[in-house]
Parts: sequence; C-alpha cells; structure tokens
Amino acid sequence: MKITVVGAGAVGASCAEYIAIKNFASEVVLLDIKEGFAEGKAMDLMQTATLNGFDTKITGVTSDYTATAGSDICVITSGIPRKPGMTREELIGINAGIVQNVSAALIEQSPETILVVVSNPMDTMTYLAHKVTGLPKNRIIGMGGALDSARFKYRLAEALEAPSSDIDGMVIGGHSDTGMIPLTRLATRASVPVSEFLSAERLEEVREATKVGGATLTKLLGTSAWYAPGAAVSTLVQSIACDQKKMMPCSTLLSGEYGLNDICIGVPVILGRNGIEKIVELNLDEKEKAHLIESAEGVRKTNDLLG
Ligand code: LAC
Repeated sequence: MKITVVGAGAVGASCAEYIAIKNFASEVVLLDIKEGFAEGKAMDLMQTATLNGFDTKITGVTSDYTATAGSDICVITSGIPRKPGMTREELIGINAGIVQNVSAALIEQSPETILVVVSNPMDTMTYLAHKVTGLPKNRIIGMGGALDSARFKYRLAEALEAPSSDIDGMVIGGHSDTGMIPLTRLATRASVPVSEFLSAERLEEVREATKVGGATLTKLLGTSAWYAPGAAVSTLVQSIACDQKKMMPCSTLLSGEYGLNDICIGVPVILGRNGIEKIVELNLDEKEKAHLIESAEGVRKTNDLLG
C-alpha cells in the first residue's frame, strides 16, 4: 500500500506520522515544493521508526511527482492555512490554483488512485478536484466531517465529564464555522442519547463550540491545527487501505442524496477499498434538513467563486 501526502507542513507531516505509526502502509511519500523540506521531515520521521515501532518507509521529495507514481491513495494538504480571524473560505484565491495543479499532477502519475482532499475551503476544493480530474465520485473524498466529529465528541465528553470512549456523535454539512451541523439528537453516551444528561442550553453550547473548533485553535496557535486533522486523515485512509468499511462523515459529490445535486458536502459514507462505497442517507428531522439546505447554500456560494 503506497500513500502520497502532498504538503509537508504541519498537517501533511502529521498525516504521514499517524499513518506510519498505525503501521498499515508499506510506503508513504511526502512531497513539498519547498526545497529539501519534505526530505527533512521524512528523515526526521524515519528516525522515530525504531522508537515508535513501525516499518512504513517514509520518503520525502521536492516537487518530483514521478516519485508518487502508483500510489493507492493520495492526500492533498497543500495550500496556505488560516491565520487568526480568517475564515476557511478566504483561502480560496490561493488554494484553488494549488489544488488544481496538484490533483492533475497526482492523477497523471497514479491514474487509479483515490484522492483525499484536506486543503481549505475543503468542500469547494473537493468539488474542484472532481472538475479537474473527472474521477468517479467514489474516488474523491473530502476530509472534514471526521475531524469535526472528533471535535464534537471532545466537547461532549467535556460537558458530560465522561471518558471519550463513552461518546459517539457525528457532524454533517459544510466544513465551515457556519456550515457544520453537529447532530446532537443522534449523539450518545454508552448508547444513551446525550439529551438524557445535558440540558438544551448546554447542548447548544456544545454545538457552538464544535462549529468554531478550528477557529478556536487558530486563535490559540496563530495558525490552523494539525494533530486532530492528521489523525482524522489517518483514520479515513486506514479505513480505505484496510477495507474496514467504517462509517464516517466525509465530503462527497451528491447526486440526489439528501435532495442535493452537483455539490460536495459532508454526509456519512462507508469507506472501504473502493473509497466511498456507499452514501448513507440519515433520516433527518425537519430542522436538521433545513440546516443542511442552508449549509449547502453556503458551500455553493464558495463554489461559485471558482468561476
Ligand atoms: C481545521 C482545518 C484543517 O479545521 O480545516 O483545523
């Protein structure tokens, strides 16, 4: 199993690290445009192999896409991250051009690959990757919902004073401060709906803290987060690589599901060796449906900027 990660910044390096530590891939290629940077990150990570006990071979290259040839899965993290006070949508001007070039270069070397898009604004970049590559819809996956759901579960565990392993929950919709829809109605602690333990007001606080999860970290760190994004990518990539068929929300091209067409937005999918093997249609209540429509309108506004 060969996996390429484009962008050796904090998010890309963290993806490579978590993928290696989970020890399911034979090879990870880290690619960056900054001379020597990916080589350095790869060498540093390889020097953790005997300490962390993994056999994945990590190599770094500067802009040499031939080194990525024959990758089973390619992860795109390239582009600029958010600065404090910025929305993900504001990154479109620079990142669209980068994602367009990177996806084309990857597909040229690995025509059978599955693409995982992480660059922001993620839903729009996933849509752009479809337009550029024309790959079948099961082979392009936007990573956002897995991360947002992890942040939702963190906030739920905090509110419930419960261990994380007790919590289950999911965030659908766009990967943006206004577009995320934390599904509190379906979230549970040890199979019991969280509404049994938390007031409506407390649940609203959890929802709001989840939606600005990325922005809160950007403010604290001065740039966007990397540990949870890297861990979310590695979980998603492992489900594909090991054909685990895990269900998690990902940005996927919808063709009528949830009443939406020609848009990439976060909904639950089954991830296996063929990428998105199924889109799961949840039975949403009227309020959740309305939120999803509203969220999709936001994503479409950003898609329109691709012009
Ligand atoms: C975040 C970026 C990866 O939410 O979108 O941290």
